Amino acid sequence: MNEVQIIGTGSYAPLNIMTNNQLSEIVDTSDEWIFTMTGIKERHISTGENTSDLATKAALSALKDANVKAEDIDLIIVASTSPDQFVPATACLVQGNIGADNAMAFDISAACSGFIFALNIAMQFLKTGQHSRALIIGADVLSKIVDWTDRNTCILFGDGAGAAILEAGTKRGIISINSASEGKKARFLTCPTVDVKNTFTKGTENFKATIGMDGKEIFKFAVKTIASSTNKILMENDLTLDDIKYVVCHQANFRIIEFVVKKLKADKDKFFVNLDRYGNTSAASIAIALDEMNKKNLLKAGDKIILVGFGGGLTYGASLIEWTINK
Ligand code: ACO
Repeated sequence: MNEVQIIGTGSYAPLNIMTNNQLSEIVDTSDEWIFTMTGIKERHISTGENTSDLATKAALSALKDANVKAEDIDLIIVASTSPDQFVPATACLVQGNIGADNAMAFDISAACSGFIFALNIAMQFLKTGQHSRALIIGADVLSKIVDWTDRNTCILFGDGAGAAILEAGTKRGIISINSASEGKKARFLTCPTVDVKNTFTKGTENFKATIGMDGKEIFKFAVKTIASSTNKILMENDLTLDDIKYVVCHQANFRIIEFVVKKLKADKDKFFVNLDRYGNTSAASIAIALDEMNKKNLLKAGDKIILVGFGGGLTYGASLIEWTINK
């Protein structure tokens, strides 16, 4: 079996920034409420770019960072809650845009855990030797599926994309990974696509293709699963948090991270946070954070980090990574 490592990262977010004050002109909210309850100050909101556009820019940035040509990629996975279309897959659009003609390309849906799930799937293909170099992308334009009249949800989300290039070989960068789902809790976070409306049915009254969420249930689930996934991966690898340089959680709410820090009795500086500037970018959030850390040279070869996600499905997962990029 091959080992797998991350050899490059990239990210992109729309240039247009929407502050909490701007949001308070649309719904009954305030900068103070949003910042106190979530830690979010602003988010990037698309002025027309779709998910594949953001994903393509993140992909190009990751290829450059890895010094790899598009034609050397043989697997592309895009994780997204907000693909451009049902068909084709956003991954195929990215493939066409960057000219990765030798790749198998497909999408996955695991909401905010999408990047961890994509990492897990890509790792299996690379470990067996069926593929040798993968481009995985988390990309979302949530602004197109947010209900902009619902102050409970619209204040949380932003648009963005993050990418990583994985390579099979002898270096063990991805030490371990786990992901799981709890379908019985699916109703706590939903976004329907289109209504069943045909010759045999009239469809549903007041059908809304926007995000609906039970914030309190998601909050509890997030704190529980981030803590348990982190503990599980540490135990399985005979490590403690002292051995970990950074924990990179899905960037949803700063208070979720504070609760996790308390639960794990951890040093809060170990938890990387950039949600103040992005809001919750769903599948993109962990990948954007990872790219920011990489580009700011916060990671050195040999550092161990934990990526941990949770989200709609409900889904969750974590990965223990040894950083192998030497700069
Ligand atoms: N501005 C001002 N007041 C507000 C706002 C707002 N934007 N939203 C709600 N309120 C009010 C409510 O009406 C309520 O008022 P009341 O007490 O008079 O009834 C009060 O503030 C408290 O509201 P709650 O909804 O009870 O607040 P809560 O403590 O649950 O916090 C929050 C809400 C921030 C959304 C929290 O539940 C949360 O972060 N949950 C996790 C959400 C999450 O991470 N979702 C993403 C999942 S990942 C994925 O897959 C996409």
